[in-house]
Formats: sequence, C-alpha cells, structure tokens
Amino acid sequence: MKTQLTEIAAIIKDLAPVDVLRYFTSQYPGLVTFSTSFGWEDQVVTDLIFKNDVPIEVFTLETGRLFPETYYVWNRTLEIYQKPIHAYFPQTASVQAMVNAKGPSSFYESVENRKECCHIRKIEPLKRALQGKKIWVTGIRAEQSVNRHDMTNLEWDEQNQLLKYHPLFDWSLEQVKVYIKENNVVYNTLHDKGFPSIGCAPCTRAVAPGEDFRAGRWWWEDQSKKECGLHATQ
Ligand code: ADX
Ligand code: SF4
Repeated sequence: MKTQLTEIAAIIKDLAPVDVLRYFTSQYPGLVTFSTSFGWEDQVVTDLIFKNDVPIEVFTLETGRLFPETYYVWNRTLEIYQKPIHAYFPQTASVQAMVNAKGPSSFYESVENRKECCHIRKIEPLKRALQGKKIWVTGIRAEQSVNRHDMTNLEWDEQNQLLKYHPLFDWSLEQVKVYIKENNVVYNTLHDKGFPSIGCAPCTRAVAPGEDFRAGRWWWEDQSKKECGLHATQ
C-alpha cells in the first residue's frame, strides 16, 4: 500500500469525497473504516457514508469520559440513519488499574499521566479498530491546527501500517456548516457554545472568539504536547 500511495493519490485527485469512498470500498471491500468522534466534520462524513449506502464500517472510541451532548448525537445518529456505529471500549483491567492507582483525574497531574490515559482509553482501542484494515477515514481538516496544514488528504500511516484518507481535508469550517444546514445533519450542540473541537469532557473546554481551534483541548499543557497520539505521526 505504501508504494501505491502516489498512484492512488492520482486516481482520487479529482473525485468528490463520496466517490473516493466508493472507489476505496470497491478496491478494498470490508477493509475501509471510518472513525467518528461525533464532531461536525465527522457528522458530515457519516452522512456521506450512510445516506449513500457506502459499505464502510463506522466506529467510535468510547473513552468512558465523553460529554452528555456527544452521547445524544451518537444516539440521534443511530435513530436517524438506522445503521450501526461500532463502539470500541478500553480494556477494563487497564482502566481499573490506572484509576485505582491514580484516581479518576490523573491526566491533570502530568503529561505522562495524560498520555497514559489517552493510551488506555483511545490508542489501544484504536489499534483493535484498525486491525487488518487498509484504509482509515477521518474527519480531519487542514485548517484545524498548524501541523495539520502540512498533511495531505491521503497519507501513509507508518504507525498503523495503512492509508489514511481525510475526505474534508480542504473544506473550510464554513463549508462544513453549510453542508450540515443544507442536509439537516444532526450535530453536537457544544459547537454552538464555543467548542470547535470536542474530545473527552474533562479535557475539553470552550475557546474564546479568535482563539485557536484546538486551544480548548488539554488546555493546561504546553502547545507542543497537545496531540493525543491518535494522529501522532503528523
Ligand atoms: S484528536 O487527535 O485531537 O483526538 P480530533 O478531535 O481533532 O482528534 O479529531 C480528528 C479525527 O480523529 C476525527 O475526525 C475522528 O476521525 C478521529 N477521532 C477523534 N476522537 C475520536 C474518538 N473518540 N473516536 C473515534 N474517532 C475519533
Ligand atoms: Fe483520558 Fe483526557 Fe485523553 Fe480522554 S482526552 S483519554 S480523559 S486524558
């Protein structure tokens, strides 16, 4: 797959996102998967997949620490589309050992603790979700952070040994909002309350107007450390 990257990038270059998704599923049936955190970008991708009956598995990493609003969107999405969303939970023994040793909010105490929590609640379950897959679809947009500008819409993920495709990579936030409005897509109401990026509840706060997209994620840490490792190689 790694060696085919340029070739595949050329094939999909002028295709609409939904046609790229269809192309991938025709080439790699059963081996394409989409991760959703129920943010508005993810809801657009979910709408593209479910409404067009593209045979892609949709999964979410259920960290156990999500916002009530996120569970609401998850539930509404199931009701509206009547299609499955697979939840990957952390290993019980790992969460139990961490919480028993360090309490329920260890992530505030050090970057090391925070990474441990992200590893247990997100990275290890992600590994299981991506096991055996060839293409991982995400809701990442270039605008979302400085390091994401340097990415491309299709890339090789060395860590997980698969291709990553970001269908909304070139979209502006405005385009995302317009799609949501025009297609009546259910979205997380926290977005209307100053949350451009929504992760786990204890680790996400609202941002002030003009503040960076990701300023509300792990806000107590240094700017440079603020990735959870899901998209670590970028
Ligand atoms: S993160 O690295 O900071 O957590 P971000 O919230 O920007 O990621 O989301 C980027 C993409 O990562 C989402 O569009 C989605 O594909 C994936 N993602 C993030 N969090 C989750 C989650 N809890 N479950 C599934 N996918 C997720
Ligand atoms: Fe744990 Fe916070 Fe990472 Fe969620 S974002 S997995 S609560 S450290």
